[in-house]
Amino acid sequence: MGSSMNTLISEKVTLVPGDITCENLGVKDCNLAEEMRREVDIVVNLAATTKFDERYDVSFNLNTMGAKNVLDFSKVCAKLKMLLHLSTAYVSGERGGLILEKPCCMGEALNGTPGLDLDMEKKIMEERFIELQTKEATEQEITLAMKDLGIQRAKKYGWPNTYVFTKAMGEMLLGQTKGNIPLVILRPTIISSTYKEPFPGWVEGIR
Ligand SMILES: NC(=O)c1ccc[n+]([C@@H]2O[C@H](COP(=O)([O-])OP(=O)(O)OC[C@H]3O[C@@H](n4cnc5c(N)ncnc54)[C@H](OP(=O)(O)O)[C@@H]3O)[C@@H](O)[C@H]2O)c1
Repeated sequence: MGSSMNTLISEKVTLVPGDITCENLGVKDCNLAEEMRREVDIVVNLAATTKFDERYDVSFNLNTMGAKNVLDFSKVCAKLKMLLHLSTAYVSGERGGLILEKPCCMGEALNGTPGLDLDMEKKIMEERFIELQTKEATEQEITLAMKDLGIQRAKKYGWPNTYVFTKAMGEMLLGQTKGNIPLVILRPTIISSTYKEPFPGWVEGIR
């Protein structure tokens, strides 16, 4: 399509800044939010933190609760045809062999450990945070401790890192609360460097 592609995109696409960790996806302009609810028919959620060792609270709020916020937004879109959610193949962990595309069911750990409960996970991270603040931990100490907590919780239930654990919990929440929303969950494997810009092979972050 060449240059006409840019024209087509600029006619069809409107950019709206937002934040999926917030209610209403962080869109503060009421008229705009109303227009989105009236006009949007397909929602594609790619937003995530893909850092394997992200702080547990940050990763949970974005990859788990953020997925739910996008679902809630989709539910009030009058013309909604589909919610497409980007997950990852690694919600299935790092096992070898044939792995079927089985949904992540609420509370089901990869290693069979019982007791995975999202409310409890939230409580654990909040309590850890308060404990660190009470001890007057520095910002850096809090970050390190919250990163450690994520890895520890992920490993307890059989996932290799915080990223895939919080993505798996996002899938669980979507599955449990989707109601009659047409939901598609895609689980790509690994997509890394850019095709052209800023130059071929560019990778953002540590991969
Ligand atoms: N790359 C892979 O190999 C791979 C494999 C499997 C699945 N996936 C999934 O594919 C999706 C995209 O991955 P990617 O590699 O393109 O990641 P990425 O380059 O890190 O892109 C993530 C995007 O999410 C946005 N974002 C972060 N926090 C947000 C928030 N609170 N509200 C709204 N947007 C927010 C970021 O915007 P800013 O840049 O403005 O922060 C960024 O554009 C993710 O869901 C990921 O889990 C990726």
